[in-house]
Amino acid sequence: MMDDKQDHERLKTELWGLSFKNPVMPASGSFASGREYGEYLDLNCLGAVITKGVAPIPWRGNPAPRVAETYGGMLNSVGLQNSGLEVFKREDLPFLEDYDTRVGVNVVGKSVEEYVEVVKGLRGHAVDFFEVNISCPNVKEGGVAFGVDPDMANLVTEKVKKVADKPVIMKLSPNVTDIVAIGKACEEGGADGLSLINTLMGMKIDIKTGKPLLGNVFGGLSGPAIKPVALRMVYQLYPHVKIPIIGIGGIRTWQDALEFIMAGASGVQVGTANFQNPRVMIEIIEGLDSYLKEENIGSIREITGISHQSVNR
Ligand code: SIN
Repeated sequence: MMDDKQDHERLKTELWGLSFKNPVMPASGSFASGREYGEYLDLNCLGAVITKGVAPIPWRGNPAPRVAETYGGMLNSVGLQNSGLEVFKREDLPFLEDYDTRVGVNVVGKSVEEYVEVVKGLRGHAVDFFEVNISCPNVKEGGVAFGVDPDMANLVTEKVKKVADKPVIMKLSPNVTDIVAIGKACEEGGADGLSLINTLMGMKIDIKTGKPLLGNVFGGLSGPAIKPVALRMVYQLYPHVKIPIIGIGGIRTWQDALEFIMAGASGVQVGTANFQNPRVMIEIIEGLDSYLKEENIGSIREITGISHQSVNR
């Protein structure tokens, strides 16, 4: 097991009454449950592990090809393939229990009832919080269908909150006109936090065949190319909600993470960058810590949302 430095006093973060070693965590789907990354980094040094999406029963996912490279990022259309709740409980949760990090379980469903089933099925288990995915652009039922309509987003939040024994954060889609309306709808539904953004819908054509390259035609764009969009949405939403925001979208350096924190994020998730550099989250943690030391800032909390001060818009 890798032995990375874990003690970064200035990065300690409090969310939903829970202490986090730092605000850095993997984005769902880029890290599985962390097992494969253990060779490259010490999972104990992460703020949290966010698992791949868990459905009530196994899902096969979408036809291949499922991924494609783009300038500054990648497209994916995995279709939320996963082994289902029972396998997750039997194999992934016991593995994660051996680590001293927070565990956020990403929850997926084709209907409101399915989200509820997963959250209910995890009651009493070693889970610290739930991240409810109402933003996957790659499935026909559930996913983004719930995340583009404030009423549906509110309904899913309310129903999940009723059965959840742990804090619930809702993962939002950028494929909307008004992110503030969706974020507020989730907050009104009782959400404890919001994570944003999921991927932007895109596509690629194979010029040899003249056909769409991805098996599912459309896919979700992630990576550095989407960072300005993600940052804008976090910045836009921050003044309108009281619950913590977790920023996601194209983060690959500590400077990127810092921008999200300054825009109002209390935590950050790193996705696509893990595929290029499996140690990227360690580098971000170390970079943020050095920055705070050099600038003589006692706690990361002091600069959360600082970019909103004295801005007239
Ligand atoms: C996928 O599995 O298709 C991606 C997951 C997501 O974007 O929520």
